[in-house]
Amino acid sequence: MRQAATSRPLPAAELDERSGMLATVLATVDALVLAMDAEGRIQVFNGACERVSGYRFDEVRGRYAWDVVLRPADVEPVKGVFRRLSAGQRSTYENVWVAKDGTERLIAWSNAVQSDPDGRVRFVVATGIDVTELRQTERALAENERRYRDQLTQAAKLEAIGRLAGGVAHDFNNLLTVILGCAGALCHELPAGHPLREEAEEIAAAGGEAARLTRQLLEFARQRPVQPVPVVLNHTVEEMTGVLARLLGDELQLATALAPDLGRVVADPTSLRQVILNLVVNARDAMAGGAGTISIQTENAELGARDVPGVPAGRYALLSVRDTGCGMSAETRSHLFEPFFTTKPEGCGTGLGLATVFGAVKQAGGHVLVESAEGEGACFRIYLPLA
Ligand SMILES: Nc1ncnc2c1ncn2[C@@H]1O[C@H](COP(=O)(O)OP(=O)(O)O)[C@@H](O)[C@H]1O
Ligand SMILES: [Mg+2]
Repeated sequence: MRQAATSRPLPAAELDERSGMLATVLATVDALVLAMDAEGRIQVFNGACERVSGYRFDEVRGRYAWDVVLRPADVEPVKGVFRRLSAGQRSTYENVWVAKDGTERLIAWSNAVQSDPDGRVRFVVATGIDVTELRQTERALAENERRYRDQLTQAAKLEAIGRLAGGVAHDFNNLLTVILGCAGALCHELPAGHPLREEAEEIAAAGGEAARLTRQLLEFARQRPVQPVPVVLNHTVEEMTGVLARLLGDELQLATALAPDLGRVVADPTSLRQVILNLVVNARDAMAGGAGTISIQTENAELGARDVPGVPAGRYALLSVRDTGCGMSAETRSHLFEPFFTTKPEGCGTGLGLATVFGAVKQAGGHVLVESAEGEGACFRIYLPLA
């Protein structure tokens, strides 16, 4: 500007043309351009400002910028920025503009102070871009990234627990064979009515229960020989609807929505039945005491690399089991698939249901995901790669 003052004055026609062009640029540029005097009163409010805020320049001219478009909570911080600006620095910050119709946009600003030769602030030029969508996308990406990492950690942790549990269960099973054998022999030898007969029977019963738990644990640790064959999940679900309906009783309904064109997966049918059974029983327990519907759905899913956190790109059969029960806290969610994790009262839960589900799904090369919040039901999704 100062330089312009010392150079040759422009002819009037050229001046007109230049300022006309500047006005057009200001009106059409996508960036918000806002100029304020030293006190913060609006002097320039370009087309982008009008478009974002819904105010016309003549409505806001001369008003304090913070009285027009800011949320009350942002007024003091922005005044603070303004005071620091006046001290002569360039600065950047973000704030929300509330438009005339109440819509909110997040704007990233860069401010520059224009001062007199003697250093007094003349005006402040703020240039802003609307970063609402950009920041939303960034947040979604970060959240995706976080969930992806969680899934990986979870999988690694379960892998380790599975190996450990499998080893222990194996040794334990050998000991149980001895215990059960001896208890059986005792029951056989002790005549009916013998004072120790009852104790011997209790040993046999407890041993039997322990063996059942161990079998489940071995299942989880993927030690049971499985026989993967091509399966259409719909058939597995249909086979089970009778059993499931009986499990659910009168209050709870089972709804199925099965994709007619569902592709085949390769999996062990017994394991698949266990998966469905465990998920439905858990759904029932979560809805205990209330009426409602548990839905089982199947569909084909074609996933890109990052469509679903933790699930690689590919073609899958997706099995979902959804309930409208009590849901679960983030804390519960983080332990869900661990063997022996249960929130149910003693005697009601073994904590092996979902561990078994996890084992079976991994065995079939699949992935299991859960979506749930406290009081908002739960949805378990199982992705099995199509054959
Ligand atoms: N559909 C569900 N809704 C709410 N919580 C669930 C659901 N499924 C599982 N859970 C939680 O996960 C825990 C572990 O489930 P699971 O491994 O099947 O063991 P168990 O059913 O024996 O407790 C449950 O105790 C419960 O807290
Ligand atoms: Mg269970």
